[in-house]
Amino acid sequence: MPTSSDLPATLHVSHHPAVLHKLALLRSVETEPKKFRELVREISWLVGYEALADARVRPITVQTPIEETEGAELADRIGLIPILRAGLGMVDAMLELMPTAEVWHLGLFRDERTLRPVEYYNKLPDTATVDLCLILDPMLATGGSATAAIEVLKDWGAKRIKLINLIAAPEGVRAVAEAHPDVPIYCASVDRQLNERGYIMPGLGDAGDRQFGTAKALLGEP
Ligand code: PRP
Ligand code: URA
Repeated sequence: MPTSSDLPATLHVSHHPAVLHKLALLRSVETEPKKFRELVREISWLVGYEALADARVRPITVQTPIEETEGAELADRIGLIPILRAGLGMVDAMLELMPTAEVWHLGLFRDERTLRPVEYYNKLPDTATVDLCLILDPMLATGGSATAAIEVLKDWGAKRIKLINLIAAPEGVRAVAEAHPDVPIYCASVDRQLNERGYIMPGLGDAGDRQFGTAKALLGEP
């Protein structure tokens, strides 16, 4: 595995024991889609919690049954941008954390031959409506999809963007950090490297297929 000194300072890897435990289950080839989806949601919550630690709040006054006190409410308008398909599984967890967040879907798939991202769906309105954009995608492999998503958001007018992944490859982390050094990356693991087909090793396979039970069909099995 790469050491932290090889990787950019914009990278934040969670080392929480709950994340480590759930991540091993997520990777396992034995984990069925239903359990896989639950784990994606749970790890997303934990990584997302860390990613939101510096979201801005403003003071409010709250009346308890006993007396008035000072409280805080979220000041940032937050936009969740799940990258279809696999990012969909991260949305519910992030909405539990930030119930007022807006969700803007972006459809990108990776061309299997060139490994370049192809945009096929974009539900963003004409101008940016949020202060902080969180891109949700379980996998950061070559970094092509994440870099394309960040470019779409910057063209849209987004000023503060964070990338939230579950598993990242060092190649993808470096590619994003080089193209967009202003975008912090949060994840649960940085794995060893990509294989010749652009899959993360050891990784978990194809995150979209494993969530939606389509792995067999894509492998051409009956
Ligand atoms: C996966 C993943 C990322 C992308 C990462 O999506 O969810 O979006 O690959 O690879 P990259 O860093 O090399 O761009 P995929 O294209 O398989 O689409 P899917 O979510 O519809 O399965
Ligand atoms: N996309 C995935 O779903 N898994 C990988 O290992 C690489 C890209």
